[in-house]
Amino acid sequence: ESVYWQALEGEPVRLPFGAREWEETARSVMPAEAFGYVAGGAGTERAVAANRAVFAQWSVTPRVLRDGSASDIGASVLGTAMSAPVLLAPLGVAEIAHREGERAVARAAADEGVVQILSTVSSVTLEEVAVAAPAGRRWFQLYWPEHEDLARSFVARAEQAGYGALVVTADTYLLGWRPRDLAAGYFPFFAGKGLANYFSDPVFCALLGENPHASPEALRKAVITWGSLFNTATFTPGHITRLKAWTALPVVVKGVCDPREASRLIDAGADAVIVSNHGGRQLDNARPALDCLPPVVRAARGHVPVLFDSGIRTGSDVYTALALGADAVLLGRPWMYALAVAGQSGVRHTLRCLKTDLTNCLQLTGHHTHTTLTPDDLHRAPTPH
Ligand code: FNR
Repeated sequence: ESVYWQALEGEPVRLPFGAREWEETARSVMPAEAFGYVAGGAGTERAVAANRAVFAQWSVTPRVLRDGSASDIGASVLGTAMSAPVLLAPLGVAEIAHREGERAVARAAADEGVVQILSTVSSVTLEEVAVAAPAGRRWFQLYWPEHEDLARSFVARAEQAGYGALVVTADTYLLGWRPRDLAAGYFPFFAGKGLANYFSDPVFCALLGENPHASPEALRKAVITWGSLFNTATFTPGHITRLKAWTALPVVVKGVCDPREASRLIDAGADAVIVSNHGGRQLDNARPALDCLPPVVRAARGHVPVLFDSGIRTGSDVYTALALGADAVLLGRPWMYALAVAGQSGVRHTLRCLKTDLTNCLQLTGHHTHTTLTPDDLHRAPTPH
């Protein structure tokens, strides 16, 4: 049976199939400044480009004398079962792409058996997202506020609402220098977008001393208060040790590129790390995330899962990251573009296509499962002079 069935089944309208087409379509339907916010990166945006370009340094030898009849891409990470080794990365303020925001993403992820990692700065509260797709599996991404009680409150709420893991993003203790947004004067958070989890939080509201929605003045004060405690400026392995003491949920650290830092975080109790440079949005000229993967995999020594994001667009990208030692990958901008173009069905279609594409790559190299991929499945192209 053709794998294309899986990708085409039940799609009433013609949706894009490739990442570039999704991006171009999103560019045509989104307000220019919102598209720029999603597409853009830090400084010269060299890291954004490099995250993609680095995949072209790896190639795969087609194999033909192998059994290509079937391949199973099901996975399980930290006790969460998933239909593929692909999770939806936490991207804040999804309402800039679609009215239904993270709710539509939750439904699409549940439809496809894929884990949604919800951002701290989501447009709708973490409880509303859980209600939107009760059968879905989701993890909560934590920007560690400069206020311990608020951090504890977020953790308790995520536990209460059934989130299966906590993902602490370590690389955003201050916001990257992003000239596109500066030029457009576009800062959705300053307009109060993406702050639903804060404005609904009892600890935050007690700090503020009033309801953020009481008046335009209260809203302004709430945004300033948020800005002052958004993230801890000095993140240490001790944060992970403390978090482990508060919660029984697995703790994942996102934004790890240095193998020595990975070791320290694992020693402090991290249950997994995510190799990521935040899609090139934080540090200009950052090393391509894929180049950071093998050293971090070596540092983890099989003790904890290593996940990867920053540049994943196709099945072959997933294949490459898994062969280099990732246990699973996160999909970033592509789901936001799909959400902007076609809402829930757009995200669902994107996931189906990615899963089909990955299955295809595995079958065409005779792998019955992604777990048998190793670096020997890849060749590094010589560096061009
Ligand atoms: C992000 N990212 C991000 N990460 C995080 O931990 N919390 C967040 O709120 C956000 N918000 C966010 C918004 C937007 C618009 C983008 C593009 C990215 C980073 C994200 O989780 C992921 O690391 C990158 O998007 C991965 O790179 P690709 O797949 O977009 O190339």
